[in-house]
Amino acid sequence: MAALNKNYDKIESTYLFSEIGSRVKNFIQKNPGVEIMRLGIGDTTLPLTGTVIKGLLREVKNLGSKKTYKGYSDPQGDLKPRTALVDFYKKRNIDLSAQEIFISDGAKSDSANIQSIFGLDNIVAIADPVYPVYSDTTIISGRTLVYMKCNEENSFIPALPKEKADLIYICSPNNPTGAVFTKKDLKVFVDYALKNKAILIFDAAYAEYISDKALPKSIYEIAGAKKCAIEINSFSKWAGFTGVRLGWTIVPMDLVVEGAEIGKVNHLWSRRQSTMFNGASNIAQAGALSVLSAAGQKESKKLIAYYMDNAAIIKKSLSELGFQVFGGGNAPYIWVKTPGALSSWDFFDKLLKEAHVVATPGSGFGREGEGYIRFSAFADTENVKAAMKSIKENLKIPK
Ligand SMILES: Cc1ncc(COP(=O)(O)O)c(C=O)c1O
Repeated sequence: MAALNKNYDKIESTYLFSEIGSRVKNFIQKNPGVEIMRLGIGDTTLPLTGTVIKGLLREVKNLGSKKTYKGYSDPQGDLKPRTALVDFYKKRNIDLSAQEIFISDGAKSDSANIQSIFGLDNIVAIADPVYPVYSDTTIISGRTLVYMKCNEENSFIPALPKEKADLIYICSPNNPTGAVFTKKDLKVFVDYALKNKAILIFDAAYAEYISDKALPKSIYEIAGAKKCAIEINSFSKWAGFTGVRLGWTIVPMDLVVEGAEIGKVNHLWSRRQSTMFNGASNIAQAGALSVLSAAGQKESKKLIAYYMDNAAIIKKSLSELGFQVFGGGNAPYIWVKTPGALSSWDFFDKLLKEAHVVATPGSGFGREGEGYIRFSAFADTENVKAAMKSIKENLKIPK
């Protein structure tokens, strides 16, 4: 008899954004014609840049000709984008080899799938609040989960887990709080991992949003990290690839897991990917090569600047209205304390009803997120300005 994985009963029955979608739909049905201003979901809104479009079209054309047609790509990713990523890191004084880089269809799947090469008895530590994929994946797999609380007292940078942890997810810049680990903050985790033979899983999906030169964009900026950290990244947020789909994961050859020889973790991830993944889209990989070209880099900086200008508008407008505002300086998310001690969902409903603005309830990212709401800078500037104006004019802010 087939049996279901009962661990699914232990996670929320709907994904956070489905619940938001259904509340917004409900509101629109009851209030037809009302214009909704969406600053909720972390999906990009600007079109792909010219250089990227050229790269994608070139590959589409190649697929249309017998001479240049290609089928499956290497499950680890084509050598060209992997080599381009090696160069990308080299410019940041990080030495990697193409063998250490695995191209994938995105950071979401990698951040979940990476657990499959580790034993079920590993204890997994995650920040609270954080991108919910890490906790859901851990619960679904049946592994024990421990939380590292992030709050105003620790400036949303977690302390080391109180319990012994084997796998530790770090998301910096953090979704949803916008907090960024300093090198000193990261060193604490690297030292812990080296001492306790733990592995850090560093999600750098928003790294390109860091403009403060003192802040690390990669875990490998910290000495010793290659021995204890896997880094996951994506073309989604800085190149508009949320729909195109492409990401990458770095599994250093030096990464050590107790009882396994050097290179074993890299080999296992390679084995997992070649068994369960058939390689990223060759069109998306050609697009990524264009993102990594000099012209592509210039263009993507403009995309980032556009979204960060939105972040600045949101931050300033809400601060002026007396809200307590965090993040938004080196991340596209602005983390806001709900006024009058309202719950995250109560404030979500109030914001929707009175100002017609959609944000994301902080409680959807973990218990510590209760009492906060996340505003996303991924929107058109006109929309951001209209949302801020509506909040100022229509929202009855409780004291
Ligand atoms: C922290 C974090 N990692 C990964 C992702 C997903 O990245 P991708 O589109 O590459 O799957 C997101 C998307 O919101 C995210 O917030």
